[in-house]
Amino acid sequence: MKIERNFPDTRLRRLRKNAGLRSMLAETSLSKADLIQPIFIKEDLSGKEPINTMPGINRLGIDILNKEVGNIVDLGIKAIAVFPVINEDKKDPMGSQATIKDNFICKAITQIKKEYPELIIIADVALDPYTDHGHDGLLDDKGDVDNDLTLPALREQALVLAKAGTDMVAPSDMMDGRIKIIRDALEQNDFIDTVILSYSAKYSSKFYGPFKDAVESAKFFGNKTKDTYQMPVQNINEALHEVAMDIQEGADIVMVKPGMPYLDVIKAVKDEFKIPTFAYQVSGEYSMLKTAVNEGLLSKDVIKESLISFKRAGADCILTYFATEIAKDLS
Ligand code: PBG
Repeated sequence: MKIERNFPDTRLRRLRKNAGLRSMLAETSLSKADLIQPIFIKEDLSGKEPINTMPGINRLGIDILNKEVGNIVDLGIKAIAVFPVINEDKKDPMGSQATIKDNFICKAITQIKKEYPELIIIADVALDPYTDHGHDGLLDDKGDVDNDLTLPALREQALVLAKAGTDMVAPSDMMDGRIKIIRDALEQNDFIDTVILSYSAKYSSKFYGPFKDAVESAKFFGNKTKDTYQMPVQNINEALHEVAMDIQEGADIVMVKPGMPYLDVIKAVKDEFKIPTFAYQVSGEYSMLKTAVNEGLLSKDVIKESLISFKRAGADCILTYFATEIAKDLS
């Protein structure tokens, strides 16, 4: 039967005809250089231990750390973000371990850097893995997180991390003024090339649940919230305000966190400021997707789709627990 060919004028399907055309015309792409693998390193652990709330992710002992990092490097990943899990009896109200020179995470960083000098190491600046109350900052008499009491501790923490060889210090604490105080400290101590990756728009999100299990701060934190310092989930103008302030205070890269539920924020930040912008696909997002894939509810292709959505929104790089897994796919 002859079909009448007088409609439509424009056929968008013409350019979707085959894989070659589709890949030539892809507006965004995902590469290994976009992926940052977060890892958990546990004091006094030998070997690895599974994290119950994050299927497939382990805490690593220092004895196997370099071997595990070697696997990540071999896959072509350029950066990792390190998170410490310290001994319970070392946690205290001041998070004292955070600011001690050559503390556990500093030693781990130095050890990694020695074998893999080209690998970019990102380390959090926040007190929560170190405090016995699980907050990111220090508490006042009433038990509230005190901004200005916390700043000097963050400053010292950033300095010990920089001294250990950290390439990017990443304040994730959401105290006001922390970027300025850290930038000044780095400059005054000749760490002029240490990058500040600011968790600028970090929301008070329940998607961080599994992370608290991973760094073993869950039982210390209980059912408290971080609502007095992390951002309200309803707000986007406020995120732009946070980012503007962090840029002014000396941040090199800004970050939005969590990721997928906040793609609008990533896009708004990138459109407004045009500066390097990272996204964090957080623990809860990982566990949600991973579980659905493991249970056969979703195809594993949803993982790559989720990562491409970050690129489409404007993110330059993505911190994701899927980094290693997806890098294998991109090989
Ligand atoms: C610590 C910190 C958190 C995450 C990164 N750094 C938890 C929190 O603020 O409660 C979350 C990462 C994730 O969920 O994967 N300040």
